Amino acid sequence: MPVTLFERICREHKIDTSLESLAIYPDQGLMHDATATPACLQLEAAGIRRLVPKTYVYCDHNLLQVGFRNADDHRYLRDMARKLGMVFSAPGTGICHQTHLEEAAFPGGILLGADSHTPMAGGLGMLAIGAGGIEVATALAGEAFYTARPLVVGVRLEGQLPAWVTGKDVVLELLRRVSVRGGVGRIFEYHGPGVAELSVPERATICNMGAETGATTSLFPSDERTRQYLKRFGRESAWRPLAADPGAVYDDEIVIHLDELVPLIALPDSPDNVRPVAEVAGLPLNQVCIGSCTNASFRDLAVVSAIWQGRRIASGVDVSVTPGTRRTLAALLETGLVSALVEAGARLLDCACGACNGVGQSPCSGGASLRTFNRNFKGRTGTADARAYLASPETAAASALTGVITDPRSLNTPPRIVVPGCFPAVGGTLEASAPEPETVCVRGPNIRPIPSGTPLPDAFAFPIKLIAGDNVTTDHLLPGGAEMLSLRSNIPASVPHVFERLDPDFAAHVSELPPQWIVVGGANFGQGSSREHAVIVPMSIGMKVVLAVSLARIFRQNLINNGVIPLTFVNPADVERLALNDVLEAKHLRQGLREGRVTLCTPHGTIDTVCRLTPHEAEILEAGGIVAWLKARRAN
Ligand code: F3S
Repeated sequence: MPVTLFERICREHKIDTSLESLAIYPDQGLMHDATATPACLQLEAAGIRRLVPKTYVYCDHNLLQVGFRNADDHRYLRDMARKLGMVFSAPGTGICHQTHLEEAAFPGGILLGADSHTPMAGGLGMLAIGAGGIEVATALAGEAFYTARPLVVGVRLEGQLPAWVTGKDVVLELLRRVSVRGGVGRIFEYHGPGVAELSVPERATICNMGAETGATTSLFPSDERTRQYLKRFGRESAWRPLAADPGAVYDDEIVIHLDELVPLIALPDSPDNVRPVAEVAGLPLNQVCIGSCTNASFRDLAVVSAIWQGRRIASGVDVSVTPGTRRTLAALLETGLVSALVEAGARLLDCACGACNGVGQSPCSGGASLRTFNRNFKGRTGTADARAYLASPETAAASALTGVITDPRSLNTPPRIVVPGCFPAVGGTLEASAPEPETVCVRGPNIRPIPSGTPLPDAFAFPIKLIAGDNVTTDHLLPGGAEMLSLRSNIPASVPHVFERLDPDFAAHVSELPPQWIVVGGANFGQGSSREHAVIVPMSIGMKVVLAVSLARIFRQNLINNGVIPLTFVNPADVERLALNDVLEAKHLRQGLREGRVTLCTPHGTIDTVCRLTPHEAEILEAGGIVAWLKARRAN
């Protein structure tokens, strides 16, 4: 029986895919400075002294050093890396996913990362899944990572990309078709003759932004282009050919005819609000940002450099370029391609997430920003009323020259890019060491213990304290941006910002909240970033139940991992029957959860809800979260 690539990797790792919940022991772990500090604090709290998979900690999100906070976090992470034997990537080395692609990912391996764009490594044929920080930490401690068995959707690529159309346009086309909910419970496995047309960075862009569909992950085969890519980084020995068997049967199939694609753009405020660039051409821009883990490879920036060669960016447009890694920057310098970027008038930024997570480059009030990034949710830029557009580096470069959204096909012949056969080795890439258990991990004053959840009650009667609509993101629940990121290690200091993009007054009334309460939401609640703090912070002030029409995958898991009960409506229309401060009552909760159904008594009659937990999830929820579960397990 021919098998899919997903099935092949699972078999090699002895993962039983006949089960509804897959138990995965990853080969590698990935965390970054926004998820690793709390994860390490939780590992310390659970008494973990040894990690099982090889683990990488990247400092890329919190590089702004205004005051001591971020520098203290980085010192703590470096200490923890030494203590536990993790590979440490110092600030400025690069954005986690691109650095990992260049330095560590390998075909056929399994990566578990505390970031929703971990699937980027799928561009190299690695099964790479994003999860919440503590969930990743638990897997690093040697426990299985559980995920619902996904459907495997074959994405067949036919034909060749036309001039000026790129991998970014392929994933925008996927988003246009399936929406930000269409990938939930699915893996997108790319195959077909069009795969060979795509470079590894383009495949990685597609896998990276596939996360916006809600997919568990995306996966490309490993072929000759994969070998060439690894060779550039001195890692050819990590290569092996890998693909689905001919005739492999998928649970579902999507066909994309590459030759029919045109340059695409996602309009505000969602990555699936996709239109042809030509339809919105001429719209004035205040800003163009080129970078992020999605599109900051050598290929991406070399294209921009070639387009700008001998030209100037439009006056009045704030343009920045962020290389994904220091090695990419070194290669751009070595090939002389940086000059055109600088001479055109762009600002060259640190190799970091930067503008993508709102750390710098916030647009002016009401401004329009065109970005090569993966998300354009309202407020993510750091400017509440700015409009963010998402497009390829080609479209961004063309638009920077004109100051208005511009179809890159207006630039005539596309540049031919020559990628160096070998990328320069640079200092300060990754620091690896054997575990040194006696290392003292210094905690600065901003590093505070992470609160833990409370055990599951058998009955509750809690009031609703927040009602939200559809497609609420983790940014809405707890914003990103420079200030918030520097508070990741200090939960009490984050409380004043809880739900501020949904109800700016919410935090002012925290002292009036009852000990435990409920949030009600619409469809796809908790989409976007894997930000565990979007659960931990409200949990720390009493959020005990989230009842929604549907829950985003990582967010639902984060709820369970922090002892918060995740319920969904049997009848989505019931959401309309509920009002703020209604008290919802549940009896015999444990039995209800075992049966997967919980009936709530409300002032407007009963409402049926669903909560299907695996036995493992049920154990965690009953214990009050994963730290309590892990502690109890280690004690036995
Ligand atoms: Fe960083 Fe943005 Fe990617 S925050 S990891 S560049 S999605």
